[in-house]
Amino acid sequence: MPLLEVERLTAGYGEAVVLEEMSLSVDDGEGLAVLGRNGVGKTTLMLAIMGHARRLSGSLRWQGTEIGGTPAYQRARMGLGWVPQERDIFPSLTVEENLLVAGRPGAFGLKDAYDLFPRLKERRRNMGDKLSGGEQQMLAICRTLMTNPRLLLLDEPFEGLAPVIVEELEATLRRLRAEKGFATVIVEQHAEDALALSDRAIVLDRGKIVLEGRSADLLADFAQVRRWIAV
Ligand SMILES: Nc1ncnc2c1ncn2[C@@H]1O[C@H](COP(=O)(O)OP(=O)(O)O)[C@@H](O)[C@H]1O
Ligand SMILES: [Mg+2]
Repeated sequence: MPLLEVERLTAGYGEAVVLEEMSLSVDDGEGLAVLGRNGVGKTTLMLAIMGHARRLSGSLRWQGTEIGGTPAYQRARMGLGWVPQERDIFPSLTVEENLLVAGRPGAFGLKDAYDLFPRLKERRRNMGDKLSGGEQQMLAICRTLMTNPRLLLLDEPFEGLAPVIVEELEATLRRLRAEKGFATVIVEQHAEDALALSDRAIVLDRGKIVLEGRSADLLADFAQVRRWIAV
């Protein structure tokens, strides 16, 4: 049974339909990349999975249980962890407080966050709004990891970051998946980075899946991906 199964999901905002009859699944421990140009519905897909966009029809199953009507806070408790595109760090809390407010019992705790990103430990008494973009992203990822999710959803985690930081984050995400065995869904504009980090990928265009396959195959024949994502 897949960890997450999305079946013919139609979703959007108010009366506006953004995703049309979308179906996909993520297995336990699997990495899925979601690619596509700006405005095709990648963030909306994440919001719909987390319960923050309006589901008009279709179903969402988590470990076989329908969660289409389950409120967002309960989905988070069930093990769906989301790192939003805006990062949403609490500006007036310290790094450590940002981590601790999110914490839920499990294998990943404060020490793991600091082991993962020693820079966060160095800055643990800094206020959230005094961090660089890269540090904010590290904090946003760790804050979600502190909830000990089974599935980690990352929305453009590399956006606006220097290449050296992107490399560091990529290495960390790869290691985390190997060591902790959780599943990831990563939305990225940097398609090649996302493919290198995932097992499988889907490419969206105007709210629909237009291409899907094994990441290694899509990397090997990148021209067909580029056709959908080139601006
Ligand atoms: N809160 C909202 N209300 C209405 N429409 C929205 C909202 N957020 C996004 N949209 C629209 O939904 C479409 C998909 O947006 P989005 O999911 O953010 O795309 P992506 O993440 O792929 O760039 C766009 O046309 C966008 O204008
Ligand atoms: Mg987006």
